[in-house]
Amino acid sequence: MERYPFSSALVTGASSGIGEVIATKLAAAGVPTVVVARRADRLNELADRHDGVEVLVADLLTAEGQAEVAARISDPDHPVDLVVNNAGFGTGGMFHELDVDRLADEVELNVAALTRLSHAALSAMVPRGRGWLLNVSSVASFQATPRLAVYAATKAYVTSLTEALHEEVRGTGVHVTALCPGLTKTEFQSNSNTEGYERDIPSLAWTSADQVADEGLKDVVANRVISVPGLQYKALVAASTVTPPFVKRVLTRVAQRWD
Ligand SMILES: NC(=O)c1ccc[n+]([C@@H]2O[C@H](COP(=O)([O-])OP(=O)(O)OC[C@H]3O[C@@H](n4cnc5c(N)ncnc54)[C@H](OP(=O)(O)O)[C@@H]3O)[C@@H](O)[C@H]2O)c1
Repeated sequence: MERYPFSSALVTGASSGIGEVIATKLAAAGVPTVVVARRADRLNELADRHDGVEVLVADLLTAEGQAEVAARISDPDHPVDLVVNNAGFGTGGMFHELDVDRLADEVELNVAALTRLSHAALSAMVPRGRGWLLNVSSVASFQATPRLAVYAATKAYVTSLTEALHEEVRGTGVHVTALCPGLTKTEFQSNSNTEGYERDIPSLAWTSADQVADEGLKDVVANRVISVPGLQYKALVAASTVTPPFVKRVLTRVAQRWD
C-alpha cells in the first residue's frame, strides 16, 4: 500500500472518475479524507467502503457550496493537509452554438470555485508552514482547443494560476502542483459532449484514472510544479513548448477528426 505524508485530505469531485480514485487511494492508505460532490449516494458509498471518510455534499456552482467547502478547508480545529481541486467539466462543440449559461457554469466551477478553494487552502497552509495543493488542470491547458474552447481556456487559467502559486509559496513548506492529464476514461466524456472521442481516438492516447491519480499524488509530494501523467503526454507537452501555435491548432483539429 502507498504511504503518503498527509495527515488529512479534501478532494472535490470525489463521486466519480479521477477524484473518486484519488479519494479512494488516500482513504485506503489511512488518510482521513473529506469527499466533496453533489451526488450524496456516491459519496456515501465511498464512505461505507473506507474508514475515515467524511462526506460533504456541496454544489460548487453556488456561493453557499463554495463557502461551505472553503470553511471546511479553513477549519482550525480540523486542519486539512492536502486539498485536491478536481471537480470540473467541459463542453464540446462550436462556441457560438453552445448554451451560454452552461459555459458560464463551466467557468464558475473550473475557474472561480477552484480559485476560492485554492485561496482557502493556502491561507490556512502557509501560516502553518505545511500543506499540499493539487489543482487538476489538463493537457488542454497548453494549447487553444477549437470545439473545446472554453474548457481549454479555463484549464490554461488553472495551470497559470497554479504555477504562480507554486512560486509564491516556495520555501514556506507548502507544495503546489498542477495535474495535467490527457484523455482519461471517466464520466467526463458523457458530461462534456465528447463521447465520440472514445470511438475515434486510439487506445494509445488514453490514460487510466488510476495512473493519473498515482502520478498526481506522487508529483505533489515531490513538489513538482506540473504533473503530466503518461509517457505519451509527457512527450506531447515537451514537444508543444517548441511547436508554433498555428501548428498546434491544426493538430488539435486533426486529433478531433474535424475538418
Ligand atoms: N477525463 C479526462 O479525459 C480529463 C482530462 C484532463 C483533465 N480532466 C479533469 O479532471 C477532473 C475530473 O474529471 P473526471 O474526468 O474525473 O470527470 P467526471 O468523472 O465527470 O468527474 C467530475 C467530478 O466533478 C464533480 N462535479 C461536477 N460538477 C460539480 C459541482 N457543481 N459541484 C461539485 N462537484 C461537481 C462530479 O460530481 P457530482 O456530479 O456528483 O457533483 C464528479 O465527481 C476535471 O477537472 C477534468 O476537467 C479530465
